[in-house]
Amino acid sequence: MTTHQAPFTALASVYDAIMGEIEYDGWAEFTLTFLRSEGFTPRNVLDLACGTGNSTRPFVEAGLQVTGLDLSRDMLTVAQKKLPDVTFVQGSLTDFQVPGQFDLITCMFDSINNLLTHEDMLACMERVRGHLTDDGWFVADVNTRIGLRDLWEGGVIEGVVPAEDGQDVHYHWSHHYDEERELGMIQAFFRMEDGSEFIEQHTERGYDPRELGELLEKAGFRDITICEYPDYAAPDEDTPRVWLFARVKEATRG
Ligand SMILES: C[S@@+](CC[C@H](N)C(=O)[O-])C[C@H]1O[C@@H](n2cnc3c(N)ncnc32)[C@H](O)[C@@H]1O
Repeated sequence: MTTHQAPFTALASVYDAIMGEIEYDGWAEFTLTFLRSEGFTPRNVLDLACGTGNSTRPFVEAGLQVTGLDLSRDMLTVAQKKLPDVTFVQGSLTDFQVPGQFDLITCMFDSINNLLTHEDMLACMERVRGHLTDDGWFVADVNTRIGLRDLWEGGVIEGVVPAEDGQDVHYHWSHHYDEERELGMIQAFFRMEDGSEFIEQHTERGYDPRELGELLEKAGFRDITICEYPDYAAPDEDTPRVWLFARVKEATRG
């Protein structure tokens, strides 16, 4: 029987098996290289929407003091098992409260696209701002509208991967883009070797660079770079995913 599960709950048990090929190390290096080019060396990082800790791990390996935050208890349980020395906190992107301030706050793998309204995105950016040190940086990757439309309308991703418990997991993700509501939806279906099946539905909103810039400015950020991975090129109207680097402190570079 297929059960319908809330987003990022049952998925936690198979997430790492499916994300085996994702460039987490490349993303962290891309982030730290940008900061180095700005003459900034972070000592601590808050990884928002950290999931099972895959985006968190490279920062631990780089020697930073890391805190991870996610809404999903199931994702955090996997993360804590993998990274026992990291502090993980359950919280929401829109109203999180974590003790201390951070040199770097990240939100990776289009997690921020889970915020479906400008109000929620602004609330998140304001929270981030409140948790950053004076010269700290916010870094996130974001699906643009065209990215979501091209990637998500009619697209299917399917495969079989071995899960940690040795069972094969068959996954079939079908994507749909609702033009009217400007929302991308994934119907993520999983069948385990023992015959159990579950479905999670995930919804994302795309954000274009100009929109992101305006929201960041509204939240008080001043030094803002929006670019492409991996070469930091300026995005154009066809760019499917952008990276934002933002801090409150004004730029002093010439
Ligand atoms: C695609 S996963 C990315 C996880 C991790 N950053 C990675 O790169 O593998 C998206 C994550 O966002 C989390 N998430 C979604 N909405 C959230 C919210 N409003 N507040 C906090 N976390 C959220 C989910 O629980 C999930 O772990």
